[in-house]
Amino acid sequence: MDASQVLQVTEMVQALQSPGGIPNHPIIFMGLAVLTFALHILFVQLMLGTSLITLWGAFSKAHYWRRLASAMLEVAKVSTSVAIVLGVAPLLFVQVVYDPHWYTSNVLSAMWVIAFIFILIVAYWAIYYYYFQNNKHKDKTVQPKARWSMVLSLVLMLVVGFIMHSLTSQMLHPELWKTWYTPNGVLDYSGSKLHAYNLWRFAFFISMAIPVAGAMLVSYRRFKSVRSDADQDYLNWAGALGKKWIKVGSIVATGLYIAWMMTLPETAGDFATSFWGIIGGVLVLSFALWAQFRLKGEAKFCSYMALPVALVIGLMVAISREMLRYTILDGFFGYNFLDYKIVFDWFSTIHFFATFLIVGGSVLTYFLTVAWQAGQTVGVYTPSPFVDRLGTIAIWIISIWTFLFLAVGFYVWAFR
Ligand code: HEM
Repeated sequence: MDASQVLQVTEMVQALQSPGGIPNHPIIFMGLAVLTFALHILFVQLMLGTSLITLWGAFSKAHYWRRLASAMLEVAKVSTSVAIVLGVAPLLFVQVVYDPHWYTSNVLSAMWVIAFIFILIVAYWAIYYYYFQNNKHKDKTVQPKARWSMVLSLVLMLVVGFIMHSLTSQMLHPELWKTWYTPNGVLDYSGSKLHAYNLWRFAFFISMAIPVAGAMLVSYRRFKSVRSDADQDYLNWAGALGKKWIKVGSIVATGLYIAWMMTLPETAGDFATSFWGIIGGVLVLSFALWAQFRLKGEAKFCSYMALPVALVIGLMVAISREMLRYTILDGFFGYNFLDYKIVFDWFSTIHFFATFLIVGGSVLTYFLTVAWQAGQTVGVYTPSPFVDRLGTIAIWIISIWTFLFLAVGFYVWAFR
């Protein structure tokens, strides 16, 4: 591309930007986008990895595998919900600072964006169908029913992920948008194509499901081993398997990361050999080393650290990924999200963070406490009066928040 063509693209993208501005500094939105993306992708990987274990166990005849599959199905189910909820957050933030790119990419593949919802619904339904077909069995070692629905769920989840990947990839090519919109000079309104993808990049994010699921297994062993009815042989087997998955998975993922870096578009310049290009791969590889040296024997503390370590590595990869987008869109095409027009609105900023911390914090604390204690209890779990009070407080906080939300909406509608 010559300089005048680049300038044309820059002007086109600037013209697409919302003139309304944003309510606070763009760096806040970007920070939240990266953080929530790291959380989203961690749960996506947990969901995919534990679904894979569920499937493996479902087709295996080995008792340990079947038991593990049944336990990991519980994790897969919950992770699916969390991954979906946490997918909405980066979507909100990315569309704020990169609105010209995000919306154009979505419109260019509109049919896929709409199909995304339906495919996701079927994938979600399929995992629950499998669960309800099998959860009544007390004996977790019998061959599960409706295995096809678990296969279907995993395949469709991957399709959903691929759509997201393609939308993200299309954002990085503003120079091709017009060509995609008018192939051979004829307007194409259909939105029926996914125009850009990088299979190495997609495979990298998906392959991280293996070490992340490994981290889950290591934590699972540690968590269940304190129960008086624990089957230590089975748990040690699951823990050793987890350690292997972290090591092998991280090495495979590093290879795919390198392949992704080697296939970056020209507009990325020398990103692959820059600090941010290298650090992502180095950290993914370091997960294997960490598992080798820190997960020895009992590894009481480090077993619980496996998932937080995966999150920190994921966060660094998320920063690298964002730096790549910045390098292309600012470095080559001159769109700097940091220059976004700001129209300060402190109420919405405070409202957002207060909701996040107070509402989210109290409800999460309650849920996690109950889940943790129930998981370590033999027989029926009865929460203590303190935990009970925590639940009541959480419900009150949600009620007050809902009331405030509606009251502000009503006030604005009626009096402004
Ligand atoms: C449940 C199945 C899902 C899977 C397997 C999945 C997978 C992925 C993957 C692999 C990426 C990284 C793409 C890349 O950078 O190349 C990604 C990004 C993303 N996903 Fe998901 N996802 C799922 C569901 C969702 C849902 C339900 C939403 C929101 C409604 C969502 C929103 C996002 C957003 C906003 C991004 C980042 C976009 C960007 O930064 O440009 N995802 N997802």
